[in-house]
Amino acid sequence: MTRVYRADDGRYEGMEYRRCGRSGLRLPAISLGLWHNFGGVDAAETGERIALRAFDRGITHFDLANNYGPPPGSAELFFGSLLKRHLGPYRDEIVVSTKAGYGMWPGPYGEWGSRKYLVASCDQSLSRMGLDYVDVFYHHRPDPDTPLEETMGALDYLVRSGRALYAGISNYGPDETREAVRILRALGTPCLIHQARYSMLDRGVEKGLLDVLEREGVGGIWFSPLAQGLLTDRYLDGTIPPGSRASRSVFLKPERLTAAMIGKLNALDGIAKERGESLARLAIKWLLRDARTTSVLVGASSPEQLDESLRALDGPALSGAELAEIEAALARPE
Ligand SMILES: NC(=O)c1ccc[n+]([C@@H]2O[C@H](COP(=O)([O-])OP(=O)(O)OC[C@H]3O[C@@H](n4cnc5c(N)ncnc54)[C@H](OP(=O)(O)O)[C@@H]3O)[C@@H](O)[C@H]2O)c1
Repeated sequence: MTRVYRADDGRYEGMEYRRCGRSGLRLPAISLGLWHNFGGVDAAETGERIALRAFDRGITHFDLANNYGPPPGSAELFFGSLLKRHLGPYRDEIVVSTKAGYGMWPGPYGEWGSRKYLVASCDQSLSRMGLDYVDVFYHHRPDPDTPLEETMGALDYLVRSGRALYAGISNYGPDETREAVRILRALGTPCLIHQARYSMLDRGVEKGLLDVLEREGVGGIWFSPLAQGLLTDRYLDGTIPPGSRASRSVFLKPERLTAAMIGKLNALDGIAKERGESLARLAIKWLLRDARTTSVLVGASSPEQLDESLRALDGPALSGAELAEIEAALARPE
């Protein structure tokens, strides 16, 4: 018989909640993403332990997408089952997001940004998760061939029809973001949040996007904050451990582990060690230093990894001298 889950009574004590842009919604400083490790190919029992640990530690936000798995759709099925078996009674304490934009089914209506695709995909996601609504629905990537008015109109429709409470965008550049935000505002459905890649190793958002988000009052949630595991102790000795993402996912190519990259990671690890912290903790703390960070969206393949990420919320903030040391380490060639 399945044990009845009861959330930890102290779950809100150790988490910080940050306002998402100029909205009324606050998100945990650290959120959990289900891109890897929660698919049909993964051990559901481990996924369950990670997700329940997250909720027990105050992580109220779980991020999904139609295509997360593999196979595509299976992370949403996993999450639907988790809600049914354990988290359902806590639905009102949870912010669930999902997205559409990448290839999901064959034919011309299974990807990109048409209204046809987005509405159908949202309905499929709701059905897989057994939900009446998601809290945030994102357009996952800009579509160069569909008018932005149509895509944003579809997001507005999804909110007005009750399928989503808020609209978001992901992977949009600064100019596209400004335009999307303008259209959504005119439609009466403000853009809640932008989901972008941001880590010590990937600072593209600093070239304009952060300023746009601040000016427009849109929240920022950062994916791959650990550069998929590079910014942890996993690869510091230059080898690829069996079972690690670099050993089994096309998204983290072993070629990224050059000698120069390993040198840089070890330099950063040295700064972390001087603080008595891990590299993962330092990398997340570094993102949290910026008030424009609403939430840092981590992945984890074990509850222990998640606990390590959560330690970023403890201990003193980074000093000016430490930030300068980090800049110097990051300036090394990769
Ligand atoms: N909007 C988008 O286009 C987009 C794109 C990508 C991701 N996302 C979202 O962002 C979320 C997070 O992305 P991500 O998984 O790439 O984030 P990440 O936090 O940079 O990487 C997570 C991976 O790093 C490794 N790791 C984490 N903590 C560790 C620790 N303490 N020690 C050693 N290794 C550790 C684990 O990999 P292994 O243990 O497997 O090696 C883990 O699965 C996704 O789940 C998804 O929700 C969105």
